Amino acid sequence: MRGIEGKAFVITGGASGIGLAVALLALQGGAAGVCLIDHEPAALAQAVQSLGRNAHGLLGDVADAAQVAQAVAASALRLGRIDAVVNAAGVDHVAALEAMTDEAWARILAVNLTGPMLVSRAAVPHLRAAGGGTIVNIASGAGLAPLRERSAYCASKAGVIMLGKALAMELAPDNIRVNAVCPGAVDTPLFRGSYEHTVDPAATLETIRQRYALQRVARPEEIAEAVLYLSSPASSYVTGTAHAVDGGRTFH
Ligand SMILES: NC(=O)c1ccc[n+]([C@@H]2O[C@H](COP(=O)([O-])OP(=O)(O)OC[C@H]3O[C@@H](n4cnc5c(N)ncnc54)[C@H](O)[C@@H]3O)[C@@H](O)[C@H]2O)c1
Repeated sequence: MRGIEGKAFVITGGASGIGLAVALLALQGGAAGVCLIDHEPAALAQAVQSLGRNAHGLLGDVADAAQVAQAVAASALRLGRIDAVVNAAGVDHVAALEAMTDEAWARILAVNLTGPMLVSRAAVPHLRAAGGGTIVNIASGAGLAPLRERSAYCASKAGVIMLGKALAMELAPDNIRVNAVCPGAVDTPLFRGSYEHTVDPAATLETIRQRYALQRVARPEEIAEAVLYLSSPASSYVTGTAHAVDGGRTFH
């Protein structure tokens, strides 16, 4: 029905939040299998167990080139092929410029921008061998319109949007489409971690809600729907886009 029947997915950050929702929806839609790559062993084991026998888990840090190469090669072995890559692993960081440490800046860029490049680089030979495929990068509305005191996060997400456009151009001859999904606020551990520690979490959440025309936070499945569309033949003429799924904040 979705056009993803029989497809093999590699999903980074698949142990939680948006990545996990993509894995669940893909399997419900008839995907042959999903391989989750994540660096949190306990969450990964739990996610794989909850998804059933067509789900596999591989431990790896997406910012580490050797670990990525190993995890992607192992994914191809487990799945037999790779048709779709979803780069969902990501980290948030809130800091004013003068409070930004060199380490924090480097880590945000390494995970959110270098990670998708490393995973794409390792996966492309497998996508090509499958006759083509898709890469969907989970960017953010923060990559389209800025958020206060999030310079590293915003820059990393704007970077991954442009990485996707450049790769869409480069990989089109191989029948590989590359797109970004730019979520707004989504109810996941990453999002909750951004306001739960504030002095008045309820008031902070309300302020966040007010940024969105729809005045609410999304469920991870609402983002996963867009990811599956961009991973399916329903989007066969769509490549190099940044698709805002943000309840009306960036109006992109
Ligand atoms: N939740 C939101 O409001 C929101 C909004 C816009 C964009 N996003 C983006 O969506 C993506 C998914 O975020 P989420 O909200 O589902 O967060 P989440 O924290 O629920 O899930 C992220 C997953 O990525 C994994 N991960 C983090 N760093 C990793 C690394 N170096 N190597 C391997 N795995 C790693 C984590 O262990 C976790 O399982 C991120 O790229 C995030 O920036 C989220």
